Parts: sequence; C-alpha cells; structure tokens
Amino acid sequence: MYAFEIDTNTPKPQLYDDLHSAAFALVDGERDGVANMANVAALLGQFLPGLNWAGFYRMVDGGLVLGPFVGKPACIRIALGSGVCGTAAASGETQLVDDVHAFPGHIACDAASQSELVVPVIHEGQVTHVIDLDSPHPARFDADDRAGIERLAKTLAGRI
Ligand code: SME
Repeated sequence: MYAFEIDTNTPKPQLYDDLHSAAFALVDGERDGVANMANVAALLGQFLPGLNWAGFYRMVDGGLVLGPFVGKPACIRIALGSGVCGTAAASGETQLVDDVHAFPGHIACDAASQSELVVPVIHEGQVTHVIDLDSPHPARFDADDRAGIERLAKTLAGRI
C-alpha cells in the first residue's frame, strides 16, 4: 500500500515538491513503463485539485496513443500537430491553454474541460510521451503548474 499525506491547500510549489517526491519513490527502480505511468496518473489525480482528466499519451508510430489516465474515457489516437496534445508533441513545447475553446483544433474528449496543460516528455532528444491535465475551470493552470509538471516530465523521461 502506498499512502501519501496530501493537503491540497498546500502552496503549489510545495505541493509539486511533494508530488515529485512521491512519483520518484514509485518509479525509481521500476522498469515497467505502463506501471509507472499508471501510478503517476493516480498521483496527479490525488495531488492536484480541480482536474477532470490527468494522464498520458504515448508516441507510437508517429502519432499519439492513449496511455494510463484518471478521468473519463478519452480519444484513443491523436495525430501529430492536432489539438493541444498533438501540438505539444509536434513542437516539443509545453502548451498552457487558459481557454480550450479558443485553441485552434482543440479536441474535446470531455465536454467539461475548460483549460488544459500539456507537457512533452523528451528522452534522448525525442518526444516519447505527453502528460495531459484537463480542468473544468477556466485558466486553472499557471507558471507553478507548468514548472511542476515539466520537472515531473524530466524525471519520467526514460522511465515510462
Ligand atoms: N484535449 C486534448 C485531447 C485529449 S483529452 O483532453 C484527454 C487535445 O486537444 O489534444
């Protein structure tokens, strides 16, 4: 059993430090990428308030394919360059979107989503995955969220 103490009222930088420590404890020494993604998706859902979806897409044969997540069933395949996830994967750049309805080509997997943060995981110079967070609140994500998830992505590179 893994029971982490989580106070979602903790200031964001500390919350992300705690999330990072928990994620590192779970993935360090485990070589199975699916198990690691599944545990980290669960942690994202536990640690971060105000989300309706959190998880992974994997780069497979030049496109994105759904990976482990928490939330409602989602789009299985996303073409490179398409939507927020495909844009992050194609550019290798984080996408922080305050209003998904204003993002050209946004793919609505869950009609509740209002804002989104997508961070690419880059291993040996290649985007291997993206981490996708969706919120039912507009402008849910800020620079602290971006920094926290980008740090997590660096730690997960090569481990998922
Ligand atoms: N909204 C994403 C699709 C994935 S779901 O949010 C889980 C996009 O535009 O890429």
